[in-house]
Amino acid sequence: MSAFGKEQGHEIVDLVNSLLDDATAEPLLSLVAESAGRLVGHILFTQAKVQSDKEVSARILAPLAVTYDFQGAGVGGALVREGLNQLAESGVDLVFVLGHPGYYPKFGFQTAGVLGYEAPYPILSEHADAWMVQALKAGVIGTIEGKVQCSDILNQPQYWQE
Ligand SMILES: CC(C)(COP(=O)(O)OP(=O)(O)OC[C@H]1O[C@@H](n2cnc3c(N)ncnc32)[C@H](O)[C@@H]1OP(=O)(O)O)[C@@H](O)C(=O)NCCC(=O)NCCS
Repeated sequence: MSAFGKEQGHEIVDLVNSLLDDATAEPLLSLVAESAGRLVGHILFTQAKVQSDKEVSARILAPLAVTYDFQGAGVGGALVREGLNQLAESGVDLVFVLGHPGYYPKFGFQTAGVLGYEAPYPILSEHADAWMVQALKAGVIGTIEGKVQCSDILNQPQYWQE
């Protein structure tokens, strides 16, 4: 909870609990980082669907949190990379994220809207670069595009307002 500060921290904990209870969020991947037996980071990937006539397997990364005193030490990066590796091994094609455009591109994410992936709710043009995608397989981007839908929980509009 300390990752986001007290007030927003409660909201994020509620979001994680709701997603873990949401059958439409499955399949999901939940990874934690520990230090000396203490939980210091968490990442969650849940089901996403691209509305396309071609079959594509997709997930969305949300949320990612690292406890305040461990931020900037590589924990977030390690969780993102491990998650992407596991998703690639399980055959996932695309991973989406709505997040800091200064953080995620170093892991291979790029702006999604211009590649034909519309977010569940319109993203303001000044935040367009916060809606990102990464292909875990060659030949997906450029051949498959469409509007993205998430789990029932993440499909709520409050999660798409910057
Ligand atoms: C954002 C967050 C997940 C990053 O995890 P982390 O373990 O602190 O990050 P790492 O140590 O892997 O990476 C640190 C790098 O990311 C950069 N970084 C951290 N937060 C950033 C942000 N919000 N925007 C841009 N860059 C950021 C750091 O400047 C650092 O850059 P460097 O490697 O060039 O020095 C973590 O700081 C956090 O939980 N923050 C509060 C919650 C939050 O904002 N979560 C939303 C993520 S979309």
